Amino acid sequence: MSETKKFQVPSPIPEKLYRLIDGFRLSKALFAACELEVFDKLRSASSPQSADDITKALSSDLDATTRLMDTLVAMELLEKFKQGDQWLYSNSEMATKFLTKDSPDSYLDMIALINKTSYFMFGNLESAVLEGTTQWKKTFGMSAEDWFPNYCNTEEAKLRFMGAMHCNSLYASYAAAKAIDLSAYRSCCDLGGAVGTLAYALCQFYPEMKVTVCDLEPAVSLAHHFRPSVEACPNQANVSFAVGDFFKPETIPKAELYVLSHVLHDWSEDKVDLILSNVYKCLPSGGGLLICERILNEDKRGPLPTLIYSLLMLVSTGGKERSAREYKHLLEKHGFIDVQAKRVYFTQDAIFCRKM
Ligand SMILES: C[S@@+](CC[C@H](N)C(=O)[O-])C[C@H]1O[C@@H](n2cnc3c(N)ncnc32)[C@H](O)[C@@H]1O
Repeated sequence: MSETKKFQVPSPIPEKLYRLIDGFRLSKALFAACELEVFDKLRSASSPQSADDITKALSSDLDATTRLMDTLVAMELLEKFKQGDQWLYSNSEMATKFLTKDSPDSYLDMIALINKTSYFMFGNLESAVLEGTTQWKKTFGMSAEDWFPNYCNTEEAKLRFMGAMHCNSLYASYAAAKAIDLSAYRSCCDLGGAVGTLAYALCQFYPEMKVTVCDLEPAVSLAHHFRPSVEACPNQANVSFAVGDFFKPETIPKAELYVLSHVLHDWSEDKVDLILSNVYKCLPSGGGLLICERILNEDKRGPLPTLIYSLLMLVSTGGKERSAREYKHLLEKHGFIDVQAKRVYFTQDAIFCRKM
């Protein structure tokens, strides 16, 4: 080469940007493996399995299954090692604990729900941003009210839906229950408390507390499936269930302490006002309200999972996530005092306040 010509070298795409672009493909590889029960097949096998074994168990395509399994290895969800001239696969510890059906920490029901709902609804995020509305009609051709009975059309599907609420709150409930000292309260009502996940955590930390879970009939009728054993939760008899509607104060059981966990972020501003004014009406003087939600940083630069969740609320419920100051304003507007916010866990924080 005689002379070096000057030319422009294109910029390499930053790996950070590439990872952001790729994120949905990683999620989908995980969702597909869960949906196909790859982790369950590996767990129920008595020894590590080849891709051929798993292909037979799934009645799938060998090359495609091998590619998925190798991707799961790179994602640290599977492990693989060579025996003779064959690669064998097994679950990683994380996959066994969170991605198999029979594990008490299983997150599969939530993943199934995400795979069937928000995965598609996020595909219409552009429309949600342009219109500022939820995307049920555009995504599924029907409203949320019509979609749910359609999705939960069998006992098993209903159980999986409630199972999603349960597994999503399992650890976070314990973290929230001890984040604030609630020992002064003897009676508590968990409004929209689903199958009682937080209620059982509360009665572990506060054995003197009687907790009523108040929810709509479909949740209450399935709650017995999620009752922990006496060994796991010795105070479980302190938890009871009542059908009620937090928009109808006359149906809300009376208590000294109310809980709203992952409820307020689901609703539009006017509905949030209605729920809070109903809780205020039902509370005796000195009574408390514990809100379990993710809290945004005041400058709204993070946490990233909470910002993403607020976009999820935009596409799916019409609600939103808030900062601690926004919760304070909201609660004080309704007459609550002593509002304190506490960071608890990356999927759930706690806000506590009282009625004078
Ligand atoms: C997102 S889930 C939260 C469940 C639970 N609190 C948790 O933290 O996992 C919302 C719950 O509110 C309940 N819910 C919805 N509308 C309600 C109403 N009008 N009155 C009482 N509960 C309601 C739902 O059935 C569901 O169990």
